[in-house]
Amino acid sequence: MTLLVTGGAGFIGSNFVLDWLAGSDEPVVTLDALTYAGNRQNLASLDGDARHVFVHGDICDRDLIDRLLSAHRPRALVHFAAESHVDRSIHGPGAFMQTNVTGTFTLLEAARGYWGSLEGEEKAAFRFHHVSTDEVYGSLGPTDPPFTETHAYEPNSPYSASKAASDHLVRAWHHTYGLPVVTTNCSNNYGPFHFPEKLIPLIIVNALAGKPLPVYGDGQQVRDWLYVKDHCSAIREVLARGRLGETYNIGGWNEKPNIDIVKTVCALLDEFQPDAAGPYERLITYVKDRPGHDRRYAIDARKIERELGWRPAETFDTGIRKTVRWYLDNQPWVSNVLSGGYRDWVTQQYGAGQGT
Ligand code: NAD
Ligand code: DAU
Repeated sequence: MTLLVTGGAGFIGSNFVLDWLAGSDEPVVTLDALTYAGNRQNLASLDGDARHVFVHGDICDRDLIDRLLSAHRPRALVHFAAESHVDRSIHGPGAFMQTNVTGTFTLLEAARGYWGSLEGEEKAAFRFHHVSTDEVYGSLGPTDPPFTETHAYEPNSPYSASKAASDHLVRAWHHTYGLPVVTTNCSNNYGPFHFPEKLIPLIIVNALAGKPLPVYGDGQQVRDWLYVKDHCSAIREVLARGRLGETYNIGGWNEKPNIDIVKTVCALLDEFQPDAAGPYERLITYVKDRPGHDRRYAIDARKIERELGWRPAETFDTGIRKTVRWYLDNQPWVSNVLSGGYRDWVTQQYGAGQGT
């Protein structure tokens, strides 16, 4: 029994791997290309742990995937690897098409070959779990009901279009080939190891550095926020008991306008680490809006609750306190990311020539 986890050195993937091995002895093989968003240091606490194998490689590399599947014989593939930042997708969509579309296609084909070679219980137990986003559903008006699993796909950014494409591929591989897949579409995550290009960690690190806190447009765009460890627990439930070929929406029941998020983070920093120069809110700076900026996302997470009994454990108040505290308590991690040192971390830690 082994899990193959793609993108496990990123934000959500590393939280998933750490939580998995904290609660189970089932080994994990992590495959990650260590792009700018991948940080090997996120998994450093697993160094020397025989239950974890890290493989530095690309999900578009079919030979590598085939070799990993036949060497480790996983009972499930949990697919997090992606280009994940909307603003980057606007500046350079190519990498999003390559990893999110071609990479998912490559994994599906490899998984299809591997699953086809299994027999009996091993074959029946195999799962391909595709981790996706609520952004595939497009944007809601202020009074629209939240996204259900049957909402039309209306992606608006190169990122969300590439994720929508990958969702469709996963669906088709189930419908046509019978590949045992489950897909989860989740709202905005926050928590430990979040790369500071995304709103919440960016606001924390900029505030501590006394830099402007950029708020796009009027700051009234609404997102639904979910503490990352709740996302991980939802994935565990869907992996264990989700119905094959189904999609499950995962959300935190926490819709908030961006400006409220920024002000909440500022207030927590005022409490935990006051700045002699004055309240952190003074640094809020309204900037040019993101092109094509989706106005509102909201998740109806009743299906996963009804079928699998899952609900988030954290409220926004408890989750954001933990998150701000984590960043204050993990300043070496933050400095290593900001300096770019995290990219040399593998060499520093393990010596030159080490891919793992
Ligand atoms: P992230 O950008 O923090 O991490 C992505 C990881 O994938 C990195 O470790 C990176 O090195 C790796 N990767 C990228 N290209 C690769 C490739 N070609 N081969 C192998 N590894 C590669 O992303 P995240 O925020 O942790 O998101 C993980 C998944 O969850 C993504 O599929 C994303 O679409 C989805 N998702 C994210 C959120 C969110 O709020 N962050 C919400 C819903 C869904
Ligand atoms: O909804 C799920 C998605 O959430 C995931 O699929 C994506 O991978 C993840 O990056 C996230 O996308 P968003 O675009 O919602 O996240 P981001 O943190 O980039 O932005 C959150 C909101 O804050 C969004 O409305 C844009 C705004 N924003 C963002 C940044 C980085 C700002 O106002 N200022 C900023 O500096």
